Amino acid sequence: MIIVTGGAGFIGSNFVLDWLAQSDEPVVNLDRLTYAGNLDNLRSIDGDERHRFVKGDICDSALVAELLAIYRPRAIVHFAAESHVDRSIHGPEEFIRTNINGTFSLLEAARAYWSGLQEEARQGFRFLHVSTDEVYGTLGADDPPFTEATPYAPNSPYSASKAASDHLVRSYHHTYGLPTLTTNCSNNYGPYHFPEKLIPLVISNARAGKPLPIYGDGRQVRDWLYVRDHCAAVREVLAHGRVGETYNVGGWNEKTNLEVVTRLCDILDELDPKSSGSYREQITFVADRPGHDRRYAIDARKIERELGWKPAESFESGIRKTVEWYLSHQEWVRNVQSGDYLKWIDKNYAGRNTVSEVPR
Ligand code: NAD
Ligand code: DAU
Repeated sequence: MIIVTGGAGFIGSNFVLDWLAQSDEPVVNLDRLTYAGNLDNLRSIDGDERHRFVKGDICDSALVAELLAIYRPRAIVHFAAESHVDRSIHGPEEFIRTNINGTFSLLEAARAYWSGLQEEARQGFRFLHVSTDEVYGTLGADDPPFTEATPYAPNSPYSASKAASDHLVRSYHHTYGLPTLTTNCSNNYGPYHFPEKLIPLVISNARAGKPLPIYGDGRQVRDWLYVRDHCAAVREVLAHGRVGETYNVGGWNEKTNLEVVTRLCDILDELDPKSSGSYREQITFVADRPGHDRRYAIDARKIERELGWKPAESFESGIRKTVEWYLSHQEWVRNVQSGDYLKWIDKNYAGRNTVSEVPR
């Protein structure tokens, strides 16, 4: 079996669902159920004996050691993290605790467990660390995309904490020989995406008749990848990745935020039209994110060359599926928009004055 951390979050839950749809290998899912963790994401596998959910913290070394001793996994796939850049700006401490200390605790527990395995199991064991393209910092308009050799230059507390965790993982391979793998992925989107992030926030606000907040001039560029393509990449790296290596994962879909938001408005206009006018009229330019990275782009040729992985979904097909998913899962959206969610929205957006003149 494998242990997945953070398997009740956006990408982790998609990964668990896809894993069990494709294999009979059981999954132990360790998740603290922070505001971002949601067991509703896993409702379709309720009662499935191949899935064991454990509510717990990756910083709890005793718990992790116990899980490893009981379940004797052949791999740990580590998704658990604080993942929202804006939250890291308002309160970085939790990012240091989970992303750095938590990854350290997990590595220590994995090292102790792996050291005690018989030779064959030791050889086969894998620690797969899921990370982000944000560790590479920001690109200019004409710079080549990030490769695995791009120097680290994180700019937010979130990306700095992920960079630190990547370094720890690297060091455990080089120093102790722990069989690690690291993936650095671009922006994901798709089902179960928590509506604090751009795409689900815009879908949800649009339908609620609220402003669609664009930070700064909206010309920041992200490379978008449909979440199930990311899950397939992680499965591929786990199965065939070279130990100690890192793999960049991306969608070859560079878009400005404005392009993403206007596309969402147009799809909503088509699938769920307003009684009059377009959702585009709700677009509002607001104060920028401090330290906002201008452009991310991933060179995903290594994973394609070595492992044969490339995204199956185009931006157009993936974004349409995503809007359709949100339209048909309105109860899921309502359930996650609890009191805490509303407090966050107030904290992040109340202080951002609307910029009346759109910077062109
Ligand atoms: P998410 O915020 O949706 O989910 C994180 C999950 O981790 C939640 O279920 C939460 O309860 C759990 N968690 C948080 N702290 C924990 C702790 N101390 N112990 C146990 N569980 C804990 O995040 P996501 O968007 O699904 O991202 C998953 C991973 O992928 C993260 O490591 C993130 O850095 C990375 N990543 C995300 C993206 C993206 O676009 N979302 C892109 C590249 C990489
Ligand atoms: O690049 C990978 C990263 O992508 C992951 O490591 C992070 O976990 C994930 O959250 C995501 O980070 P971003 O900061 O790029 O995602 P977010 O959805 O928060 O923002 C996407 C872009 O949209 C970014 O340029 C900021 C902008 N934005 C975001 C919000 C929430 C807005 O303009 N308005 C908004 O209200």
